Amino acid sequence: MSKVKDLSLSERGKAELAWARINMPVLAEIRKRFEKEKPFSGMTIGVALHMEKKTGILLETLSCGGAKVFAGSCNPLTTDDSVAAALAKGGKIQVFAWAGQTNEEYYSCLNAVLDGKPDIVVDDGCDLISLLHTKRKSELAKVKGACEETTTGIGRLQAMQKANKLLLPVFAVNNAYSKFLLDNQFGTAQSTIAAIAQATNKLFAGKTAVVVGFGWCGRGIASRLKAMGASVIVVEIDGTLGPHESGLQRGLSALYDGFRVMDLESAAPQGDIFVTATGNVNVIDSRHFPLMKDGAILCNAGHFNVEINEPALRKSSKGVERIKDNIDAYRLKSGKTLYLLSEGRLVNLARPSGQGHPIEIMDGSFALQALCCELLAKGKKMPAGVQDVPKEIDDSVARLILRSQGIRLEEPTGEQKKYSESFEGGT
Ligand code: NAI
Repeated sequence: MSKVKDLSLSERGKAELAWARINMPVLAEIRKRFEKEKPFSGMTIGVALHMEKKTGILLETLSCGGAKVFAGSCNPLTTDDSVAAALAKGGKIQVFAWAGQTNEEYYSCLNAVLDGKPDIVVDDGCDLISLLHTKRKSELAKVKGACEETTTGIGRLQAMQKANKLLLPVFAVNNAYSKFLLDNQFGTAQSTIAAIAQATNKLFAGKTAVVVGFGWCGRGIASRLKAMGASVIVVEIDGTLGPHESGLQRGLSALYDGFRVMDLESAAPQGDIFVTATGNVNVIDSRHFPLMKDGAILCNAGHFNVEINEPALRKSSKGVERIKDNIDAYRLKSGKTLYLLSEGRLVNLARPSGQGHPIEIMDGSFALQALCCELLAKGKKMPAGVQDVPKEIDDSVARLILRSQGIRLEEPTGEQKKYSESFEGGT
């Protein structure tokens, strides 16, 4: 038998991309059409997305549609270097990303993306769009519009809009029903749990897991942890913060879903594993750390590394040790140890244990991105501000996902359409 061949970094990335490509049938369908129609001919698309294999397939799809693509990551820790190397070697996509960047390096890469003078911008978390509106305003005039991938990015855009500072139309891709239903809920759940398991090698069954935030991400994580045998406590907030539904109804819905619901001070002494998914700041704070069990594990699935107050945790520690990939041990002055995963950054994306959402989930999310980019390229007239993804695009992506799995739903009959439109039903 021949010896198994060792691959170089870029060869490994090429193999990763090939694996993603065969598992992304929806983007493959869109790509076939883009190859013929070249909707982005003569245009540049500037992208800031987690630079890993699924993003690579979106970048290829845009490039096949005729775009010059300049791409960086949207987080200093989440680049898969092998994929970045393979994309760069392919020569068609300008890549500015590597894993473990300093903040300065991260912003120099975002600036390099804007040096490409994009006509369309694709962002995740709003750092690129924000840079475009502050230090790189001269590039704004050429940009037709943008797409935003995540809840935190939408929150930042809405704040900019309120202050009359948002000067572009931006599709809220995150808010498409097919996005938050599938990606935020099921994608974040599987990838977060997979990353915690990969980093810690620990069993969930029999543990008490505390999920902070019962939004789209939190409810997915909580349900899947419960299915794996964990006893799950949900923590929500009393009131409404930001654009989402009230924490009161979300707390109630968690309760009626069968979870224990309480505030974090009550949950802190009980938890073996804590997962934050709120999009908020200092959700686990200095007052909570002393209440926790020796050996408790803390991690975050929200967009920014501000949900767990790491500086406060560091302050209450005698020392911090990186005991293995993605795990830092904080030796508290009290004698206890708390373990923080992935420096409190997105645990499901921080490498090496975080691989991001399952491929099929990103096939749907990036199909929405590709179709929204196409709409912007076609010059759809829209005012500056956060824009909903058109329902036809949302529905067409859900239909393509179902069809790619060989699933057809009932075709409504003429009679049924008429009946539901006329409201003549009932007795
Ligand atoms: P969401 O707005 O639906 O849910 C957030 C929930 O957190 C809300 O119910 C809110 O009431 C609650 N909350 C806020 N402050 C709280 C506090 N101090 N204590 C307890 N609960 C609190 O948002 P979604 O879509 O679930 O996203 C959450 C975060 O995850 C965002 O930062 C988003 O950008 C990020 N995200 C991460 C993904 C990943 O791959 N890890 C994927 C998609 C989103």
